Amino acid sequence: MYTILDDGARRARAYLDGLGERSVAPSADAVAGLDRLEERLPAGPSAPADTLRLLDEIVSPATMAMAGPRFFGFVIGGSLPVTVAANWLAAAWDQNTGLYNSTPGVARLEDVALRWIVDVLGLPESTGGGFVTGATVANFTALAAARHRVLADAGWNVEADGLFGAPPITVITGEEAHPTLLKSLGMLGLGRSRVVRVAVDGQGRMRADALPRIAGPTILCLQAGNVNTGSFDPFEAIIPRAHDAGAWVHVDGAFGLWARAAPSLERLARGLEHADSWATDAHKWLNVPYDSGLALVRDARTLRAAMAITAEYLPTDTPERNPCDFTPELSRRARGVEVWTALRSLGRAGLAELFERSCAQARRFAAGLSAVGCEVLNDVVLNQVLVSFGDAERTRRVIAALQEDGTCWCGATVWQGKTAMRISVCSWATTEQDVERSLAAMTRLARTVS
Ligand SMILES: Cc1ncc(COP(=O)(O)O)c(C=O)c1O
Repeated sequence: MYTILDDGARRARAYLDGLGERSVAPSADAVAGLDRLEERLPAGPSAPADTLRLLDEIVSPATMAMAGPRFFGFVIGGSLPVTVAANWLAAAWDQNTGLYNSTPGVARLEDVALRWIVDVLGLPESTGGGFVTGATVANFTALAAARHRVLADAGWNVEADGLFGAPPITVITGEEAHPTLLKSLGMLGLGRSRVVRVAVDGQGRMRADALPRIAGPTILCLQAGNVNTGSFDPFEAIIPRAHDAGAWVHVDGAFGLWARAAPSLERLARGLEHADSWATDAHKWLNVPYDSGLALVRDARTLRAAMAITAEYLPTDTPERNPCDFTPELSRRARGVEVWTALRSLGRAGLAELFERSCAQARRFAAGLSAVGCEVLNDVVLNQVLVSFGDAERTRRVIAALQEDGTCWCGATVWQGKTAMRISVCSWATTEQDVERSLAAMTRLARTVS
């Protein structure tokens, strides 16, 4: 009955084996082939192997090779092979990871993974967390804890009474806050537009000298790793001031938080351990399959107060940690499985090596492109590189030609008024040869595209 799993594994293996040599972007023919999906819902069952074959034949070629070694778009890690295997095993377990009593294995595993994360990121031991879908929901979850705390301190129970009539909360972010942070604030009823935006410098870092005076219930959102430049807000200059004024400090560290796990990068993120909450992704730089993020809160009880549920039919009354008390969801897959697997298999040294290698590769891209006269717009402090190939039109034409060429894939952005190509290096699979091969394609097109 389960031989179909061997078929799935064989097809997945063939797909991954082919990623290094195929075009990174899917061909136009492969995308056109998706029309084959437009059939009527079958009237009855068919052989499982047939359905799997169709899935592989139609969709595999139409995928972007994000799991491959030369995808540098957005901020997208690959998946360490062992985490893919662990994901399959966890899918076979099919555990609904809400309650300790019903799923002790994965609840315990997530507990351990969480402790390891707190340890390797150098966060306070009191930190609690939840395994969520990604940094967007991690921001939402941690900011729900922030909302709970600042309103509880003002004598208001937001979970019970909502926001109507509540004391107003001042929310402060940098001008360069990621749009998903603003979305999270909107979902929490804190508004996207009423946020106080603080000016940033040429790298997108919040300017400590521009921080407004803080008074009353306040949530200050800082950033570890700007999506364009990779820069970090000056935590040591800002967090003590915010705390002196009684504010809650949250850090969006979707990928930058991992700098704390690498000795040569740690100085960039120094001081953020004094914040009250943090959001990060595992599906980016930790290289586990989608979807996987972590909401982390210094005082685990505050996160629990914002997220816990109780109902007569749910066995929530245990001395153990119930995962659903720390996440927006009750029912969910065991995301911590791949996180545990990545941490367990890489160890402290392997993590540091992964992050430091990506940064060295980003620096190599910057040096190689500068050497042929392209303009690198950012200080390459982490794993993000911004390159201009001239004016906006020409830069866009080079990016389009690169995507069409298929050797690698990079996207576009506008950085402080200037159109640029983004190179984001986040994958365990990227080798030095992949960097050189991609650089050769970039420099060839930078020379030949008019
Ligand atoms: C700084 C920052 N915050 C939040 C996000 C959103 O992450 P996700 O797409 O995993 O929700 C990103 C995505 O790149 C990011 O760079």
